[in-house]
Amino acid sequence: MGSNDDLPIVNFEALSLKHEQVPDRDDPTVKEVARQMVKHFSTVGFVYITNHGLTLEKVDAAFSAGDRFFTLESEVKRKYKKGERASQNGWDALERESVNRREKTPGDLKECFDIKDFLEDDFLWPVEVPNFKEHVLDLWKDTHELSLRVLSTVTIGMGLDPTTFDFAFKHTGKLEGNSALRYTYYPKADPTKVKPGQLRCGEHTDLGIITMLYQDELGGLEFLSAEGKYVPAVPIKGSICINIGNMMQKLTSDRLIAGRHRVVVSEKEVNYLNQPRRSLVYFMRPDLDAQIMCLDGSNKYVPIISGNYVKQKLNATYQY
Ligand SMILES: [Fe+2]
Repeated sequence: MGSNDDLPIVNFEALSLKHEQVPDRDDPTVKEVARQMVKHFSTVGFVYITNHGLTLEKVDAAFSAGDRFFTLESEVKRKYKKGERASQNGWDALERESVNRREKTPGDLKECFDIKDFLEDDFLWPVEVPNFKEHVLDLWKDTHELSLRVLSTVTIGMGLDPTTFDFAFKHTGKLEGNSALRYTYYPKADPTKVKPGQLRCGEHTDLGIITMLYQDELGGLEFLSAEGKYVPAVPIKGSICINIGNMMQKLTSDRLIAGRHRVVVSEKEVNYLNQPRRSLVYFMRPDLDAQIMCLDGSNKYVPIISGNYVKQKLNATYQY
């Protein structure tokens, strides 16, 4: 894989946000989209969708707001520093997180800003960036709606009841919710400063149900193919890259696979563009108290509680 031709791409037009009403599940074009989505989710665990109806302007506006935040002075950003261990609200300084701790690589070369409790009145929005909150919420609304449509392709493609996943997303954006938006800002890569073995983001799978990713044109994201080789997920303008997370793999008893991925300092980034890499991610995760157990009634996985699972995993990720 290395060109767009080799990537798993699905034309999502049949379920585009342009259709205000969610299209009929029995519509043949919807069924075909669902078939393709489930095919990719059950082999490589990730897919690009195009023609999804979410406007580039909303994505660009949210990115610009993030850029303004990350280029603020450190002492300003520190006001928004995450509090407790494994918090999903606030700023992470460079190298604070190391997604893959087993490999003992240096801390990841990135800064983050996480936004989980965005519908709570006391969420600490960066006041230094005009309209930050508005741009984030604008993008979140469409992204969330799209993610629900992606889940409907899973229920259609796997022959599950349409309400299968409803139990998991009753409190999104509130304290009891567990979905989160994440800005990641990878400062310009200075080849003389990159430590041996250092990645932008270490090899991992995501924890939740699905992850929706907006990335810029720099590249660097790589997915593990079914053949066990890392292949570049080449950025496709206007697309959204979606991958399956661990809890979806557990729910579906391994029918859908959590795509293993990492972010490297790409050659293009170092040699040509020499600008920061940015991404914006929506981690769709079940509410804190949601119980995750195999939908087919099997005992392939021990039931877990979403909030406990994420907390335990995130605690293992941060360096102090
Ligand atoms: Fe990830």
